[in-house]
Amino acid sequence: MIGQLKNKSLADLKLVNSLDSLEEWRVNYLGRKGELTKILRSIGSLPDDQRKKIGSESNLLRVLLEDQYKKIKPKLESNLSVYSSVDITLPGRKDHIGRLHPITSIIREISSAFADMGFNIVEGTESEIEHYNFDLLNIPFDHPARDQWDTIWLDRPNRKDNLLRTHTSPMQARIMENTEPPIRVITPGKCYRYEATDSTHEWHFHQIEGLVVGENISFSDLKGTLYEFAKRIFGSDRKVRFRCDFFPFVEPGVDMSIDWKGDWIEILGAGMVHPKVFQGVGYDPDKYKGFAFGMGPERIAMLRYNIEDIRQFFSNDLRFLSQF
Ligand code: PHE
Repeated sequence: MIGQLKNKSLADLKLVNSLDSLEEWRVNYLGRKGELTKILRSIGSLPDDQRKKIGSESNLLRVLLEDQYKKIKPKLESNLSVYSSVDITLPGRKDHIGRLHPITSIIREISSAFADMGFNIVEGTESEIEHYNFDLLNIPFDHPARDQWDTIWLDRPNRKDNLLRTHTSPMQARIMENTEPPIRVITPGKCYRYEATDSTHEWHFHQIEGLVVGENISFSDLKGTLYEFAKRIFGSDRKVRFRCDFFPFVEPGVDMSIDWKGDWIEILGAGMVHPKVFQGVGYDPDKYKGFAFGMGPERIAMLRYNIEDIRQFFSNDLRFLSQF
């Protein structure tokens, strides 16, 4: 008899799915007029030979059912609080899944192309001192080349880093000061220039600087490395052009352009490290040779994805950003 009641009560409990139905279940079995309560009350009037057995079985069942009740109740209560804080009658909404910013992805892609070619990756500081941003790069205070970069100056009287770097080239000097050749490194990072913005110019943008120094580095290493980079990023049939260009910290200097629907778009400056830069960081220019380059990932992303206005990258319009 008790065995049957046990099976029935536990089977009923499985159907309980709300606080109300749990209460109904409790009243049915454990309530004042509940099925188990009735048995417990009748024990006294049972014949001696049954009293002991039924008495102990029904008491065990009571403990079991009370236990189950105590376990299930808090579970149903906590479900209830989830449901009451979320309006489950509202129509479903799609989750927004985040992703990398297109400039972050292109920087990572370019970095891993260079990492495959044996380059290390180093990041630098965005605030710089004139010594690294200009002086060590053969751009002395009165040199007209300083006009090429309109600098954003920081008003911090007690600190030496009083400008936002105008390019990642200061990292060339910082790395050489702290390392012995051979060096093969790229340094991606953010740069700032005080200038009016238009569809191809932003006041803040990224660069990826590259530096290779060793005893037998030649201009053909520069070209070979940059051809390989272009092949990996733009595909092997894309045309690439080198032209002479001037940067005070390289000699000779070049720029590299990529074919863009019949036009040439410049994506980087490069050249052989100037002997004065080597001298400035304490390297012997007769012993070491090297090349450096600096490229603009925004430009590269524009070419890659057919984007006509650089300002879109940082205007934070999700309709634009979620296309990548
Ligand atoms: N720093 C230069 C620029 O901002 C690019 C460059 C880097 C050129 C390294 C030559 C070598 O325009």
